[in-house]
Amino acid sequence: MRDLIGIDDLDRGEIESVLDLAAEMEVLREMGSDLCKGKILATIFYEPSTRTRLSFESAMLRLGGEVLGFADPQTTSVAKDETLADTVHMVCNYSDIIVMRHSKAGAARLAAQHSVVPIVNAGDDAHQHPTQSLTDLFTIRRLRGDISELTVGICGDLRFGRAAHSLAYALAMFGARIVLIAPTGLELPEDVSWRLDNLYGANTSLAETPRDVIGELDVLYVNRLQKERLPAELDANAIKDVARSYRVDADLMKLAKPDCLVMHPLPRVDELTHDLDDDPRAAYFQQSSNGVPVRMALMAMLLRRVDRPAFREKPRRVTEPSEHVCANPACVTQAEPRVRPLVETVDAARGVKWCAYCRYLLPDASGS
Ligand code: NCD
Repeated sequence: MRDLIGIDDLDRGEIESVLDLAAEMEVLREMGSDLCKGKILATIFYEPSTRTRLSFESAMLRLGGEVLGFADPQTTSVAKDETLADTVHMVCNYSDIIVMRHSKAGAARLAAQHSVVPIVNAGDDAHQHPTQSLTDLFTIRRLRGDISELTVGICGDLRFGRAAHSLAYALAMFGARIVLIAPTGLELPEDVSWRLDNLYGANTSLAETPRDVIGELDVLYVNRLQKERLPAELDANAIKDVARSYRVDADLMKLAKPDCLVMHPLPRVDELTHDLDDDPRAAYFQQSSNGVPVRMALMAMLLRRVDRPAFREKPRRVTEPSEHVCANPACVTQAEPRVRPLVETVDAARGVKWCAYCRYLLPDASGS
C-alpha cells in the first residue's frame, strides 16, 4: 500500500506514469467507467477547498466508485475534541482511500500512521500539496511538451504556499530551470531551499518581481498570498499592497513570450487580473479542469485498479523517536495530543535529520 504525502514520495518515473494514465483517463471522464466500482473515497477536509475536494469526488464518481466525507469538521466529533488519529482510525473502516486537507503540517503523515487504507495529502498547512503539482505538471506537459527544457517562474507567496513548494520539488526532479519570484519576506522557507539545493541540485535563480524576468519564462506560475497563514500583525491593506506588488495582468504579459503559459492553482485574489482570462496563454481554468483526470489516474493506481506498472513498493522510511518536539510552530506534533515526536535521517554522512511529520529540518541539520 502506498500513501501520497509529498510529491517527493514519487520519483520522476512514477510521476510520468500518473501523467500518462491521466491522459488515458480523459476518455473515461467523458464516458464514465466502472474501474473503481465498489470502492469508496472518503474526503476529510479540515480546511476550506473548492477545486481539490470536488475534483477528487468527481474523479471517484467518474470511476464508478462512491464518495463520503466532510468539509466542515465542526459537524463531526472533532467538535468533541476527538484526535486526528482516532478520526482516521474510524474513517478507514468506512472507505478504501482517504483524501485529507488539514491546517497542520505533517497531519497527513500522522494520519497515514493510523490508517490501513492509502492516505492522499490534499494540502497540510504550508507544507505540501502533491496532487496540485501532478495537475500542474500534466498541464505544462500537455501545453508545452518536455518539462526539462522549460524555464518556470514560480511567483508570489513562496513562504506559505504549499502548491509552490510541491511544484518546485517536482520541477527540480524534471530538471527544469526554476525562477523563484517573491516579495521580500515571502521567499521560500530555508528548509525548502535546502532540499532543492541539496537533494535535487535544482537549477534555481531569484527575482523580486515578475517584471524583472518575464521575458525569459516559458511558464509563469502565480500564487495567492496565503492570508490565513500570514503573521497576525499584517493588516488587510498591507496584504493587498504586497499582492499588488507582484500582480500579473495583461500589461505585464505584453512583455512575455508569445507562448508563455500563465498558471495559478486558484483561488485568485489581487495577484492575477481578470483581463487575462481571454488571453490564449491563460491556462489556469484548463489547469483546474485537468485535476479530474489526474486524480482519476492517481486513485486508480493507488487502489491497484489498473493493469500497468504502478507505484513500486518502497521500504518505509526509517524513523527514530526524538526527545525534542519539532520546532515548526505549525507542525501537527505541536497541536495533536499524544503524538510521539519522530525524526528521519535524510543525509547520514552530514548528520541531516528532519521531523518525520512536517519534514522541518532539525536546527543543527542544515549545515548552516
Ligand atoms: C491551493 C491550496 O489550497 O493550497 N488551492 C488549491 O488547492 N487549488 C492554493 C491556494 O489556496 O492558494
